[in-house]
Amino acid sequence: MTSAKIIYASLTGNTEEIAKATKENLETAGIEVTIDEIDSSSPSDFNDFDIAIIASYTYGDGDLPDEAVDFYDELQELDLSNKKYGVLGSGDTSYGNNFCKAVELFEEAFAKTGATKGAPGVKVEFDPDDEDLENIKKFTDAIIK
Ligand SMILES: Cc1cc2nc3c(=O)[nH]c(=O)nc-3n(C[C@H](O)[C@H](O)[C@H](O)COP(=O)(O)O)c2cc1C
Repeated sequence: MTSAKIIYASLTGNTEEIAKATKENLETAGIEVTIDEIDSSSPSDFNDFDIAIIASYTYGDGDLPDEAVDFYDELQELDLSNKKYGVLGSGDTSYGNNFCKAVELFEEAFAKTGATKGAPGVKVEFDPDDEDLENIKKFTDAIIK
């Protein structure tokens, strides 16, 4: 059975909603999913899964959440070359070019692990509306193809 690990960072719950919608889609497709918060996870947790997914909000001015910084540094040292990855995130478009910057940062980190990008990153304004949920569905469909 194909397996997926979702690791997320969420302060006020928006990214948690995104992570949980992703989990439901994957489970509906018959994938075995484990989900955890980033501050109780290590990047090496991805070693035991076929699909590695990160969902993160963006903080500061285009910065990673504080609790994601060590995880981000360690992620780049891993060899995930036999795996697929995907990144989602929540942000606020009033930050302009820094909207959902954490999505791009984590995609760059994953790219260094040798993992294959399974779907384009998904950026959500605050909590997911119906259109965002459709985009999350497209994301999960692409990643399991
Ligand atoms: C101090 C602060 C800084 C923020 N900086 C950014 C930013 O640079 N880019 C962005 O897209 N969103 C930024 N945001 C918005 C959050 O990412 C957004 O509210 C998000 O939905 C929070 O997700 P969460 O509910 O999962 O914690 C910032 C929010 C706060 C409070």
